[in-house]
Amino acid sequence: MMEPILVLYATHEGQTQRIAEHMAASIRAHGLLANVVNAAYILDGFPFDSYSAAIVAASVHGGRHEKEIVRFVKDHVKELEQIPTAFLSVSLSEAGAEDAMEPPENRARAAADATRMIDQFLAETGWRPSSIKAVAGALLYTKYNFLLRFVMKRISHRAGGTTDTSKDHEYTDWAALDKLVDEFVAHVGPATTVRDCVS
Ligand SMILES: Cc1cc2nc3c(=O)[nH]c(=O)nc-3n(C[C@H](O)[C@H](O)[C@H](O)COP(=O)(O)O)c2cc1C
Repeated sequence: MMEPILVLYATHEGQTQRIAEHMAASIRAHGLLANVVNAAYILDGFPFDSYSAAIVAASVHGGRHEKEIVRFVKDHVKELEQIPTAFLSVSLSEAGAEDAMEPPENRARAAADATRMIDQFLAETGWRPSSIKAVAGALLYTKYNFLLRFVMKRISHRAGGTTDTSKDHEYTDWAALDKLVDEFVAHVGPATTVRDCVS
């Protein structure tokens, strides 16, 4: 029986958890096992040996990824480099980069921002994942407190984004994530499936 795939995430407002759970469901649809783990609750002695591959997802706040992910990757960079891995960086910069309604120069600037934040994370951790993907996050106005809603509305306005604070705005391309899982699973290699194990 093949070991499960680790889907490790860090989040502030919950979008990256949704992304991690979506990735895990997509992996399971391939007949493989996936464990979703919140990096904020990891204890010492993490059982890395019990995973065949890892997807690590983190979101960006103030230009940086969550510190618990930075710490985990730094602590486990050797183990991570021995298995197939993918890093997902969730941000609104990537949402801007993917926004077909935006002028090309704005999209290019947003894409450069998303890339810069990923490069900074990789430089800080020393990790070289097998694949890297910038993922569009969400503007969760209804989940923010009053002050944060005000700040995010101003930031969004300056970036040419929506200022409709009456609802949340999700930009994540779920189909693109499924495609990433398809490619990742193919990379992980022919696997013993859950069904094989059960029968
Ligand atoms: C306080 C705050 C700061 C943020 N800073 C950035 C940023 O510097 N760059 C960026 O591209 N997105 C930024 N974002 C957008 C988040 O990356 C985006 O909302 C993402 O979906 C959050 O994921 P999470 O819900 O998993 O925390 C920020 C969001 C908030 C609320």
